[in-house]
Amino acid sequence: MNLPPFKLERFFAKYEFNTEFLLCSSDCEAMSIADLLATEEGAVQKFQQVWLGYTESQGSPALRSEISKLYETIAPEEILVHTGAEEAIYLFMFANFKKGDHVIVHSPGYQSLAELARAAGCDVSPWRAREENQWSLDLDELRHLMRTNTKAIVINTPHNPTGYLMSRSDYEAVHKFSQENNLLLFSDEVYRESEYHPADRLPAACDLGEHAISLGVTSKTYGLAGLRIGWIATKNKKIYERMASLKDYTTICNSAPSEFLAEVAMRNRQKLAQRNIEIIKDNLTVIDDLFARHADLFWWIPPTAGPMGFPRLLKGDIEKFCDDLVRKAGVLLLPGSMYDDSRNHFRLGLGRKNLPKAVERLEKYVSNN
Ligand SMILES: Cc1ncc(COP(=O)(O)O)c(C=O)c1O
Repeated sequence: MNLPPFKLERFFAKYEFNTEFLLCSSDCEAMSIADLLATEEGAVQKFQQVWLGYTESQGSPALRSEISKLYETIAPEEILVHTGAEEAIYLFMFANFKKGDHVIVHSPGYQSLAELARAAGCDVSPWRAREENQWSLDLDELRHLMRTNTKAIVINTPHNPTGYLMSRSDYEAVHKFSQENNLLLFSDEVYRESEYHPADRLPAACDLGEHAISLGVTSKTYGLAGLRIGWIATKNKKIYERMASLKDYTTICNSAPSEFLAEVAMRNRQKLAQRNIEIIKDNLTVIDDLFARHADLFWWIPPTAGPMGFPRLLKGDIEKFCDDLVRKAGVLLLPGSMYDDSRNHFRLGLGRKNLPKAVERLEKYVSNN
């Protein structure tokens, strides 16, 4: 297998642990084990009793039972737990595709959603979200991308990096198209439950039929990336079995302490999500003010869900801007080139508590340069 570097991960490897302000993170504010255990009475004692043997490959029954509550019609045995969402993407692509298959992937997007399909032998067609359409996807374009060997559509909503939440009618149309054409629909829902207006939340794809696979994780909305617990939920038994078999060759089973902590997190997920949505909303007002003061320099379509947006720098070159900013001001922004974007966009993270301080630094840098 010949995988090209994961551009965004290589970029973060260079800066993530030596830069004072990460203003482009894709996750929400994390917390300590102590703070997480404090959400539930008796959790500290139970955590100390966690047995450190191998765990059940598909995920502990208690954790799967908590995860299944995210969905309307999914039973615990329809959940397969993984090491992060990343392992689930990897296993989905390699378990289900072969050379010559064709997959349509929401773009720009999280690199592995397209790259791993390609590595599994697929031809990949990007289905482009366009800024001039408020980052929405065009259903006519989907029809044109369809080929006789198309096997799946991959979507991500709420979306990394634009913060776009698909409309319900478009979402239903994508499901209908996928069912009518006998395609799998891999729905990356790692930002689900981070909608700014709960009424906008879309149904989980896995609840809409056997054609669909929902991807979830503790990392994003709930701010617990260090647990490395992700999952897929699907009624499709064939897909489930294929992924479960392949997992025997990757991680076999999950970390026992992480499974317990994820179970506590999922039981208290509404509290965790609410805390993080409040951080995002406060940060959005800081960014709105910043962009209003510097309307000649920044422009964006504001996000409607999740801890990210994809603004555009209106003057200069974004790569140089980001490079100079991190060196002189210790503030990290992610240039859009990490998503193969050439229109001067950058990823802005809204989920961290220290955003107001990072923005102060950014503004000082902008005023002095
Ligand atoms: C859209 C999307 N899917 C999947 C992942 C992978 O999540 P994790 O790193 O928690 O495995 C990410 C991480 O940034 C993501 O943004």
